[in-house]
Order: sequence, then structure tokens, then C-alpha cells
Amino acid sequence: MKFSLMHTVVFVFALLVALPVFQACFGGSSGDDGTDGDADSSDNSGDEDEDLELSGEDLEDIENTEETEDDAETGGESADEEGEAVPEKFRVAFLADPHIIDDYYEGPESNELDTQTMFDTYDNLIHARDHINSLEPPIDSVYIAGDIVHNYPSTEWDFYFENRTRFDIAAEILDGFEMPVYILPGNHDYDIGNIPREFTQNLFREKFGLEKTYYEIERYGFKFIMLDNFLGSTGDAESPDSKGELGSLGEEQLMWLKERLAEGKPSFVMNHNPLLVMKLDDVGDEGLKSVLEDNLDVLQLSLAGHTHIWMDWEQIYGMPHIVLGSTRYDHDNYMIVEIDTVNQNFTILNKDKLGWGTRNAEPWDGE
Ligand SMILES: [Fe+2]
Repeated sequence: MKFSLMHTVVFVFALLVALPVFQACFGGSSGDDGTDGDADSSDNSGDEDEDLELSGEDLEDIENTEETEDDAETGGESADEEGEAVPEKFRVAFLADPHIIDDYYEGPESNELDTQTMFDTYDNLIHARDHINSLEPPIDSVYIAGDIVHNYPSTEWDFYFENRTRFDIAAEILDGFEMPVYILPGNHDYDIGNIPREFTQNLFREKFGLEKTYYEIERYGFKFIMLDNFLGSTGDAESPDSKGELGSLGEEQLMWLKERLAEGKPSFVMNHNPLLVMKLDDVGDEGLKSVLEDNLDVLQLSLAGHTHIWMDWEQIYGMPHIVLGSTRYDHDNYMIVEIDTVNQNFTILNKDKLGWGTRNAEPWDGE
């Protein structure tokens, strides 16, 4: 790829902005590293409320066939492969990094802002959710790019079923979205090195009703591919690759992704780590970046979270790649996208409200 001088300047500036955030994201777990496994288990004992959990059915089958106001207005829908009415346009929301905590959170984080924002995460995600619920025309579905919870208060499996923890609280908030919501894990959901990877896999699936931590959703002929970038060597605590800050998919997931994209349908691809911190040679000489580059004809948008700052990397990577701001820092950090099923393209409706290069956004009230 040829870089112009301007691109180089933009890239260096972006690095300067992003690097301290990487450090905060990876280094900010002191005091909350899963060592207090003997925390009081009497609080909310037995509070394993099934209603708070998102089952797989909840995630996939919430009113998929309900006609939206937009459908009613346009009346121009056709039918997809399953016979479902396809509107000319539909809207989705993308969010990232809610970092939900619970009463067992101890902190502090690595700097004052990060510590302070931990106590806003609950209200911020609820505010964002309720705002998205109120939008007209209704949002079809919601996708969240990881760091659903912030590390672990215990290394004991039973602790999470004898107490009301951040996993239950996050599931409860997500259950309040009035449309299907789809999530994937981030580095704070895994806390590699402190919690075994399999422990996270099992707990994440159990609490959020997922069969796998990577999967795809299809809406009106468009794919939404949700990836887990902690399944490759960089997410293996036994591997020297895990000592860095890179994410990787691993062979099984990377091959699965290639097969999904090879189906030729327009696709939104979401994972936690921005491409800047994804391993290039994940499997042989292939990785997420090269696979996306091989599928630019179907790639609508590559989305990530992790660095908490709104970034548009398209000019750097030669593909549409957006890093989402975090609801942890601002309850207006959500991106609303309108998808045109006729012309097979999309528009970011609140693009001018998003604070590119910052942790913040302005509210968007629709239309
Ligand atoms: Fe994060």
C-alpha cells in the first residue's frame, strides 16, 4: 500500500492518540484481577434469575417478522429467502465497550478518568439503550463490540451463580433492548492471564445465552459477522504471543469467516480489537486484515472497539474500518446506520455527531 505524506501524518497522529488508550485498556485492572474469590456469597444468594438472561432464542427471534413503521410507509418491500418481507431500508445500531461492573468491583484503574468512568458504566449503557429504544423508525437490531463486563471479581465458577455479578447486570440491561442485541467478547471479558480462556468461554455463553462466541446474523440479505479475537495464539495464556496486545482469530474461526464471506452477501464484520492490534500472520500468512482485503467486494464495514475513541481508519487501511467510541465514557456513543437493501449500501446517519478522535459524541434524536 502506498502512503501519501498526509496519510503518514494522519497515521502517526492516530498512533499517538491511540497508544495511551491501549495501555489504559490493558493495564487498568489493578485491584480487580479476580483474586477475591472468597467475597461474601450471602448477598443475592440464589439470585439466578432466568429472566435476566438472554437465551439464544431471545437473541435471534425477537420479533423478526414485525413490520416496522418504515415498512408501512414505503410499502416497497420484497421477500427474502425465508419469505420474510424485506424493507427498502432498515436501521441498526453499533455500540462498544460498556464495561459493566458490580458491587464487588474494587478498582482503581490506571488513571483518574478511567476509575471515575467505571462508576458511570451502568447508567451510560441504560441511557444509550433507552435512547435507541425510543428512536423512530425503530432500530432493527443492535451489535456491541465487546468489553461487555470489566474483569472478574472471582476465579470461582460457583461465585457467578451464587451472587448477582456484572454478568447478570449486563444481561439484564441487554434484555431491556426492545430489539435483538448481539454481542461479542473483549479483552476485559476474557482477562487473559488471570482467568482461564475456557472459563470465560463457558461463563460468557451461559450468562448471555450464546452457543458460540463467534457467529453470524442475517438481516434482509445482509450479514452481521460477530468475531471473537481471543481464540488464536494471542489469547492462549500459555503462548508467548499472549504477552503482547494483539488479537487473533485462530484457524477454525478464520476459515469459518472466509466461508461466510465467500457466500457473497454484503457483510458487516465486527470484532473487539481494531485492525491496528490484530495479528497479521494469525494462520500462516493470513489474518483478519488480509481476509477482509480479499473480500472488499462484499465488505460493507469492519467495526471494532477497544480503544474507546472514535476513529475512521478507511484511508489508512484502504477499507471501511471504524473504531467505535465507548458507552463507558459517553452515553451518546452509539452509531446509527441505515442500510439500503435496494442499492446494497449504507449511510451512517449520525456521523456528524460522533466526536472523531475523541471519546465523546453528541446526542442524535433521529431523522
Ligand atoms: Fe474497553
